[in-house]
Amino acid sequence: MKKFRTAVIGAGFIGAVHVETIRRLGNVEIVALCDAMGAEKKAEALGIGQAYDDYRKMIDEVRPDAIHICTPNNTHYDIAKYAIEHGVHFICEKPFTTTVEQARELIALADEHHVQGAVNFHNRLYPIPNQMHQMIAKGELGEIFSVHGEYIQDWLLYETDYSWRLDRSQVGKTRAIADIGSHWMDLAEFVSCMKIKRVNAKFRTVYPVRKRPLGEVETFSHAENAQYQEIPIDTEDEAVVMFEFENGAIGSMLVSMVYAGRKNTTTLAVAGSKEALKWDSEALNDLWIGHRERPNEILTKDASLLDPRAARLGSYPSGHIEGFADAFKNVFRQFYGSLEQPDGDYEFARISDGLREMLLCDAVFESAQKGEWTQVED
Ligand SMILES: NC(=O)c1ccc[n+]([C@@H]2O[C@H](COP(=O)([O-])OP(=O)(O)OC[C@H]3O[C@@H](n4cnc5c(N)ncnc54)[C@H](O)[C@@H]3O)[C@@H](O)[C@H]2O)c1
Repeated sequence: MKKFRTAVIGAGFIGAVHVETIRRLGNVEIVALCDAMGAEKKAEALGIGQAYDDYRKMIDEVRPDAIHICTPNNTHYDIAKYAIEHGVHFICEKPFTTTVEQARELIALADEHHVQGAVNFHNRLYPIPNQMHQMIAKGELGEIFSVHGEYIQDWLLYETDYSWRLDRSQVGKTRAIADIGSHWMDLAEFVSCMKIKRVNAKFRTVYPVRKRPLGEVETFSHAENAQYQEIPIDTEDEAVVMFEFENGAIGSMLVSMVYAGRKNTTTLAVAGSKEALKWDSEALNDLWIGHRERPNEILTKDASLLDPRAARLGSYPSGHIEGFADAFKNVFRQFYGSLEQPDGDYEFARISDGLREMLLCDAVFESAQKGEWTQVED
């Protein structure tokens, strides 16, 4: 197996997950860490030898084979562009960019420089959603009638909750949609094997003004005894979207960052003419299979019971719980595998899928602005 040298940019919540997960691959060494704030301390805490606060300097000096982009959304484009221009492959956190134009430009540039890029839509590579995809691809559900679900969280429930994700200049023009709706829409298209053709969205900003604690707050952390500044909010706390798929199937999604008690819940249900399937991230190793003529079933992740392509995504024997970081491992393993063997059988999201999400997010935004059904550009 080829050995790779990689570097991680951004060591907040998700950067630390990348670091831990890369180390589980066995053939990828983390040679440097870059963070705009406290890089040395973060690198030391994560046991990484070299620390940088400027990704350009890091790429120039370290010359890694690949980088992991784990910084706020508005920085993805510049970092990916610099990597591409220097022949460095990359895994970028979602959303790929903040605009469709940026995504298109990066894809063309990556093509020109023969650089591979991935976007970390990891939900596809959990064993159970992947099993749904394999079953649907084989026609086991018959004609698909509907696709629906939700992605709901409560970390912005109070008006005093704040993070960079509330700042449009850092997150892009949509927030809940780009941040968590993008995950759901990628999963819905991947699992159902169908493209979304049209969308009709309604956004709601529950708190048009929020109280920002003075001083920096890392994502999902809480500031004690903080003093606040009032900040106007111009992105959505929650959204509901209706979908029309290419075969005429209908669908809906609720995304919310203000849903009490739901920490990070994703559900996806697909109903067809023969049977129906449902996945819930709170019991993510189980698949509900609904029948009309016989009792319903629960298929629990077990390599001997899953489709071989879904079974390969399990890290542990049946009965041993696995989850978030294991799905990341699947993405990273496939990505680095693709650098060594481009023709292998991979299902990770590529930068073209990142562009697809930007097109979907744009259509959802436009629909919410106009209050009407909007076509998704191909
Ligand atoms: N795949 C997933 O499920 C998932 C989950 C969470 C976050 N994300 C994505 O990961 C990205 C980061 O989110 P997070 O929650 O980790 O945020 P975070 O605020 O916890 O961490 C961001 C880190 O990036 C650093 N940073 C900011 N600008 C930088 C720059 N120019 N150069 C170097 N470092 C910089 C910050 O100092 C911070 O340490 C976002 O794009 C987010 O959408 C994905």
